[in-house]
Amino acid sequence: MGLDDYYQQDDPVITDTIKAILTQYSNIPEPELISHIRAIRDKAFEVYKYPCIGSYNFLDFSIADSPIYGDLVERVKKNGATFLDLGVCFGQDIRKLVFDGCPSGNLVGTELQPAFINFGYELFRDREKLKTPFKTGDYFASKTAHDLPEQSFDFIHSGAFFHLFTWEEQVEAISRAVQLLKHKPGSVIFGRQAAKDVPGEFPEMTARSGPMYMHNAESFRKLLHEVSTNTGAKFDIDIDVREKWGQKLTGDWKVLSFIMRYVD
Ligand SMILES: C[S@@+](CC[C@H](N)C(=O)[O-])C[C@H]1O[C@@H](n2cnc3c(N)ncnc32)[C@H](O)[C@@H]1O
Repeated sequence: MGLDDYYQQDDPVITDTIKAILTQYSNIPEPELISHIRAIRDKAFEVYKYPCIGSYNFLDFSIADSPIYGDLVERVKKNGATFLDLGVCFGQDIRKLVFDGCPSGNLVGTELQPAFINFGYELFRDREKLKTPFKTGDYFASKTAHDLPEQSFDFIHSGAFFHLFTWEEQVEAISRAVQLLKHKPGSVIFGRQAAKDVPGEFPEMTARSGPMYMHNAESFRKLLHEVSTNTGAKFDIDIDVREKWGQKLTGDWKVLSFIMRYVD
């Protein structure tokens, strides 16, 4: 399957969440939703043919599916907890947090492609009101990712980001996230990514030096063990693999969700 095959010809499924965010937060009239979404999806797919763009997975607002989502929202709202989203693309999960009451200034997003950040402002029509800083550029380029301060985040989220890389790069990517996480109980790295029954390299997509490595639960646990050895940080780890993504992803992937809770 080539990357062009992930371009979904059908219209997106407009769930209640999508309708609520785009009509109430973004003030887009309901009859315009589909053409608005399609236009931005098409422009972004020209920049890079990510399956999550072509197949409308950016409309999943998948962060809210995590069992820790309620706790995350409460702690950001009430205790000023800090949140970092890695490889945000359009920044849809940040908009979901803001829609659910989190102050946008407590959130930070990172992204390689400045164009995707701009498409996010277009998609959500919030360039003037969103206070979230977006750090653009290569996550691996500086001493800490995007020159963010060490141990400064309570929550770090990776939506379809860690899986983009080779095994060795994933160890480095997650170790860099550990470097940015506050080293205290209550701190969490969590997210979701594509999964396969039989783990291995997936040659269709090369984000950096080589093909992305797709995991099953066992291989991902092994990789996280390497991260702990690398960083000296210990985590309680939950991994859950399910059959389906939200919007119609055309590939034969499952979805792996994970939660890494920092322990002393
Ligand atoms: C597959 S998308 C996932 C987007 C979103 N988090 C989600 O869950 O739908 C991965 C994102 O990571 C970004 N990315 C890829 N390599 C990167 C790098 N080296 N540094 C920073 N961002 C990167 C891509 O541009 C893309 O927007």
